[in-house]
Amino acid sequence: MSPSGRPQPLSLVFLLGVGMASERISCPSGCSCQYLEVNCTGQQLQEFPAAIPLDTRQLILAANNVSYLPAVELSFLADLVYLDCRKNLLGDDLDFTFIGVSKLVYLDLSFNNLTQVTFSTFSHLLSLVVLKISDNPNLVSIEKDAFANNTWLRHLDLSRTGLTFLDTSTVRDLPDLRFLGLSDNLWHCNCSFLDFITWMTESNIYFPDADNITCYTPEGLRALQMPAVEAELRFSCLAQLHKQDYIFLCLVGFCIFFAGTVAAWLSGICAVIYEVHTSKGEEEEEEEDTVT
Ligand SMILES: *[C@@H]1O[C@H](CO)[C@@H](O)[C@H](O)[C@H]1NC(C)=O
Ligand SMILES: *[C@@H]1O[C@H](CO)[C@@H](O)[C@H](O)[C@H]1NC(C)=O
Ligand SMILES: *[C@@H]1O[C@H](CO)[C@@H](O)[C@H](O)[C@H]1NC(C)=O
Ligand SMILES: *[C@@H]1O[C@H](CO)[C@@H](O)[C@H](O)[C@H]1NC(C)=O
Repeated sequence: MSPSGRPQPLSLVFLLGVGMASERISCPSGCSCQYLEVNCTGQQLQEFPAAIPLDTRQLILAANNVSYLPAVELSFLADLVYLDCRKNLLGDDLDFTFIGVSKLVYLDLSFNNLTQVTFSTFSHLLSLVVLKISDNPNLVSIEKDAFANNTWLRHLDLSRTGLTFLDTSTVRDLPDLRFLGLSDNLWHCNCSFLDFITWMTESNIYFPDADNITCYTPEGLRALQMPAVEAELRFSCLAQLHKQDYIFLCLVGFCIFFAGTVAAWLSGICAVIYEVHTSKGEEEEEEEDTVT
């Protein structure tokens, strides 16, 4: 009931408002800030910049030397929808990095040093529409369910990475996917990959730079373009199947032959034993005749 007790919460809100407003005026050094956008392109930053205004919607850190994104500081930017980190040194483990920026719609991590993508890397980005992870030469593995939670994903770029294999289920169940970059990877076109190639031919997704989506291994299919190689790969995988069939047939044939031989041999022995036995009986009868 004190005169200063009541209006305190209001003034607190007011102070917070002023605080945020003044923070908008303060901008990370070297960056430019305007209209909820913070642009720090090409500032040779080694670290994630401090004092980014909390209401930032668009953060551009392109062409720096940032090697680590702090999850906690990112999560202060709860309204962030656009994050461009292309051409940095991000690597190792990005799991749970984006846990606090669930409104993110656009994420560019191309030209970095990512090594793997797991379910936990992007699973909190339920609004993600564009994801660029191309040009990460050390990116060698993407878990089957890596994008299972990114159901809005429309544009996914995996070009020029270290990927050799991609499971069809990684991308097949993304209902809005329209653009999938796969070019200039060293694809390993074995019979498991046939399923993926078949999916490619049947989907109505746009595969940019299709001339450069080629097999690297096995030797026999090197440099052949991806959807076109389907017939050849199917033939060789079927031939492999046929080979197995022939081996199976030969085995069955041999078993039948062997069983037949054994049966003939056994019946032969039986016949001989029977013959010997009956002739012995006759001899005994003859002996009996001579005795009487
Ligand atoms: C990229 O990541 C690999 C494996 O973690 C590491 O050996 C290499 O030094 C990194 N390269 C750069 C430029 O950071
Ligand atoms: C993945 O999506 C489901 C359903 O939208 C949600 O319940 C779950 O929390 C998400 N997983 C993560 C790790 O965010
Ligand atoms: C095809 O290659 C991938 C990746 O190297 C491997 O996981 C898979 O088992 C291979 N499948 C066959 C049938 O060899
Ligand atoms: C395709 O790959 C070749 C050789 O690596 C390269 O010269 C060419 O620029 C690539 N095409 C496109 C459209 O990137």
